[in-house]
Amino acid sequence: MSTISELETPVVLVDLDKAEANLKKAQDAADRAGIKLRPHIKTHKLPRFAKRQVELGAVGITVQKLGEAEVMADAGLDDLLLTFNIVGAKKRDRLKALHERVTIRVVADSTETVMGLAETFGDQNRPLGVFVECDTGMGRCGVQSPEAALSLARQIAVLPGLQFAGLMTYPAAKKYREAADWLAEAKALFDSAGMPLPEITTGGTPDIWHMEEAGVATEYRPGTYIYMDRSQVAAGAASYDECALTVVATVVSRPTEGRAIIDAGSKTLTSDLLGLEGHGHVLDYPEAKIVGLSEEHGTVDVSACAVKPKIGDTIRIVPNHCCPVSNLFDTVTLVRGEEVVETVHVAARGRVD
Ligand SMILES: Cc1ncc(COP(=O)(O)O)c(C=O)c1O
Repeated sequence: MSTISELETPVVLVDLDKAEANLKKAQDAADRAGIKLRPHIKTHKLPRFAKRQVELGAVGITVQKLGEAEVMADAGLDDLLLTFNIVGAKKRDRLKALHERVTIRVVADSTETVMGLAETFGDQNRPLGVFVECDTGMGRCGVQSPEAALSLARQIAVLPGLQFAGLMTYPAAKKYREAADWLAEAKALFDSAGMPLPEITTGGTPDIWHMEEAGVATEYRPGTYIYMDRSQVAAGAASYDECALTVVATVVSRPTEGRAIIDAGSKTLTSDLLGLEGHGHVLDYPEAKIVGLSEEHGTVDVSACAVKPKIGDTIRIVPNHCCPVSNLFDTVTLVRGEEVVETVHVAARGRVD
């Protein structure tokens, strides 16, 4: 048996017991709320965890990119929602190849995207399910009003090869009430127009423990919840003890009394701040602040630490945002407490195409 202390750094650890507890807690909450769970795999990018999510009761998985979908389909996952506007003939051909072997549905927020899909899927006997993406406050993709959602849904519904699947939104963090109101208004509009609305899919981790307040939504799509991270602790969705993904780094320099330099910079921790101060929470030195990052160096202010780390010591960090950290590493090391279980290849990392 090897232990964490024997690993070369920087290294990404995933505590299996914590991840499993996070998965179960969310599935239980979804079951209690009477809402289907369709976890987003962009956080872990690992088929083994996607399969575990389905085993625990998820109706399928969410993916963000065709590349992720291809990896997951190859691994045997067969019910996928791709929450991205697919634009361009080459990408649509890849989508069609996936559609021929698994159930995959997509989103669209414009006539252009819908017409492109119709061009590629017009000859299909088994239509492609298309959700209308709605901007309920995130300010990213999405139609801007329930009326626009109804209008695009009507376009999808009459096009050969396409089938209107419902509404999809990714609400802004802490805006779950606004999103629920928006969707309720849309549902009322669809009902009064006599337009069927098969599914309404919403959700993210910051508001995961408000799933029962998702209103007319039928499905919830959390991603980060499997690992949790510093931004979710700040949002009140998790405690540090529940964070399953950590980065271990080594102190390689102590140029001054108050400064420690670690071997983890932006290529390990990413530059994501997500509105936070500093680049991660140091579990073993909670008074330490990761004040700066260059690509391979992290600058840690240890002046407030009563006992300061020495050169050669390791520190364990909960990153601000765990999802892009997964994407930066070829492998993650699965652990149970201090024990190393296995180092695994992150199958869908880098599949941003
Ligand atoms: C469309 C969509 N759905 C679901 C999620 C999952 O969100 P979270 O990681 O906050 O749970 C994301 C995350 O970026 C997303 O973009």
